[in-house]
Amino acid sequence: MPHPINSSPHYIRSASIEDLEAIISLDMDSNPHPWGKNLIKDALMTRQNWVIESYDEQGSIIVSAWLTASVLFEQSELELIVVGRAFRRQGLAKELMTHWFDAIKLQNIGREQPVSECLLEVRESNLGAIALYKSLGFELMGRRKNYYQSEQGNEAALLFNLTI
Ligand SMILES: CC(C)(COP(=O)(O)OP(=O)(O)OC[C@H]1O[C@@H](n2cnc3c(N)ncnc32)[C@H](O)[C@@H]1OP(=O)(O)O)[C@@H](O)C(=O)NCCC(=O)NCCS
Repeated sequence: MPHPINSSPHYIRSASIEDLEAIISLDMDSNPHPWGKNLIKDALMTRQNWVIESYDEQGSIIVSAWLTASVLFEQSELELIVVGRAFRRQGLAKELMTHWFDAIKLQNIGREQPVSECLLEVRESNLGAIALYKSLGFELMGRRKNYYQSEQGNEAALLFNLTI
């Protein structure tokens, strides 16, 4: 069931392989380091995925944001969050991240090994995403030097975690 976000015209729902084309287009337009079809397809088939649907300028419903995360034992790792350029700074990423935490807590009920920690890695230059994660309580736990390729050569990955 899609969940309306407060009183705004945005809805969160689980994503499936049927969203592949819409997510490819979101990734191509709004991810500075696009994943491409194969990685997105793999994520939709093997990980947990949620999207937000919003109205575009023409009044059509489109996928405006996507979050994909994996679960391994007591940890859930954010693989990617992307919000469409036209929909940024409206709280959509925060809503998706909060939805991810809520889903984990719900899935923990009855789990032998409940998920107790959320993890993520982010490029050191991605100040917007870092501000988002800190605003949600994530704490810096490490730095991997030269982890990502960048236009300037390489850049470090920052590792964040949050106990839930
Ligand atoms: C990072 C990203 C997901 C943020 O999405 P968003 O929907 O605009 O974020 P929100 O509106 O929920 O922001 C919540 C808070 O995070 C912080 N924040 C988000 N983007 C920011 C930016 N560009 N600069 C500074 N702070 C930012 C702010 O504290 C913001 O609260 P405020 O708007 O009240 O100041 C989006 O910019 C994006 O898709 N970037 C490209 C893909 C990417 O880099 N993904 C992360 C790597 S996995």
